[in-house]
Amino acid sequence: MIRLEGVTKSYNKKNVLINANLHAKEGEITLLTGKSGSGKSILLNIISGIQVYDSGNYFVNKVKLDVYDDQYMSQFRNAKIGYIVQDYALIEEYSVLENILLPSMYNKKFEKKDIQDKAILLAKDFGLFDIIYKKVKHISGGQKQRTAIARSLILDPAIILADEPTTNLDEENFLLIIDLFESLKKAKKLIIIATHDDRIKSIANKIYRIDDTILEQES
Ligand SMILES: Nc1ncnc2c1ncn2[C@@H]1O[C@H](COP(=O)(O)OP(=O)(O)OP(=O)(O)O)[C@@H](O)[C@H]1O
Ligand SMILES: [Mg+2]
Repeated sequence: MIRLEGVTKSYNKKNVLINANLHAKEGEITLLTGKSGSGKSILLNIISGIQVYDSGNYFVNKVKLDVYDDQYMSQFRNAKIGYIVQDYALIEEYSVLENILLPSMYNKKFEKKDIQDKAILLAKDFGLFDIIYKKVKHISGGQKQRTAIARSLILDPAIILADEPTTNLDEENFLLIIDLFESLKKAKKLIIIATHDDRIKSIANKIYRIDDTILEQES
């Protein structure tokens, strides 16, 4: 369970969020909507611990997180969160496989052999098997998006944050990702998706909308 209470955040002296409250649960998909520039990515960054708020509280399973402690938050992120960021943040000079494996470089929870096998399975699941040794700089936008999604799952995170995960995908790959989110939901993951893509609404349990600094629950 994630709970944000009274979160206020400004960026370059401009208010992005005022007194935002959000509640997301395991086994549910929570959507964040709102027009471009409304603060969806900033909110996901706050939940992942990459950015801090100016004031407010953040609870995970009723434990209040010390968001101002960088080391604590990076440990939290590495242990609990898979984050598909909006621009993918892949390393262009690395192969698809190396990119999928990146989070495991900082986390020794799994044996090297097991993690390699898991990366290859994920590559297969996402139709990337034929290109696992290709450098990311030589693959398409949709392939990059799927590589970023595979990478976010490599450490089997309890919480999955996805920023516009379907924008670059054709119908076939869109359906693949919808199926993936459905199965993550069944596996009791906590999923938060920021999106403009109305097609995702059909699998959402809860929809929040950011409208001019106000975060409201829409349904
Ligand atoms: N690196 C940055 N430098 C300056 N301003 C920023 C930066 N990142 C975000 N902002 C500002 O913060 C506000 C919220 O941005 P954010 O990226 O969260 O919006 P968004 O809802 O994710 O938009 P989009 O749908 O286009 O991805 C915007 O007004 C934006 O201009
Ligand atoms: Mg964004």
